[in-house]
Amino acid sequence: MSGKQLFEMDEKRLVIGAMVTLSLATGVMVLMPYFFVKRITPPKDLKPYTVLEARGREIYVAQGCVYCHSQQPRDAKQAPDAKRGWGRVSVAGDYFYDSPHLLGTMRTGPDLFNIAARQPSKDWHLGHLYQPRAYTPGSIMPAYPFMFEVKKTQDVTKDDEVVNLPPEFAKAGETVVTKADAHALVAYLLALDHTYSPLPAIPVPGDEKNLSGDK
Ligand code: HEC
Repeated sequence: MSGKQLFEMDEKRLVIGAMVTLSLATGVMVLMPYFFVKRITPPKDLKPYTVLEARGREIYVAQGCVYCHSQQPRDAKQAPDAKRGWGRVSVAGDYFYDSPHLLGTMRTGPDLFNIAARQPSKDWHLGHLYQPRAYTPGSIMPAYPFMFEVKKTQDVTKDDEVVNLPPEFAKAGETVVTKADAHALVAYLLALDHTYSPLPAIPVPGDEKNLSGDK
């Protein structure tokens, strides 16, 4: 084939060329990732979300928490996340029940993948959502007062979930109680604990129990 013929453009070459390019791109960007993640199973200690936690997750999405908070602790080579106390590097299986995933790209606030391990207090989370500045002076996180109701203290019933604010933020005679959204959102935050080991125990050679248990 002469040089002239090789580079000459005709419809057949154009169509074949386009098809080849398209199938290569589909293979690399669609099929390869599909086969990579197809076999991923959830780590033994990862629990699916309860109905309440899943509802809280929807509120997390709706309120745009993901725009300021990531959920993907990174490797020490990329960021000092372990030193920041954000936990081990996440693996694909950690996200088994997450759809859509909420990896996030911005880190205006801290990574929340293990927030429940770091901050397990429900009172703290409720109060922090009502008024971040009550817990972190100078915080730039928005407050979410519309997820709460301010009641006269004498009107509070035993079915109300009371938010125990620091005394200087609680007005005399008034009590802050949660609405359904705050209740669900905090349930979701308290489910964010991925501090388990994501890998199966490595069998120790010579330890027969472990080895046979693996087969
Ligand atoms: C404008 C950015 C921004 C948005 C939006 C935002 N946050 Fe934050 N968040 C921050 C910053 C900054 C901090 C660190 C200061 C603080 O503790 O308040 C923070 C801290 C937190 C913490 C404590 C983290 C820790 O390690 O102590 C939690 C939990 C949290 N945010 C949850 C949420 C939730 C839930 C939402 C959505 C309802 C949300 N944030 C929306 C910026 C944001």
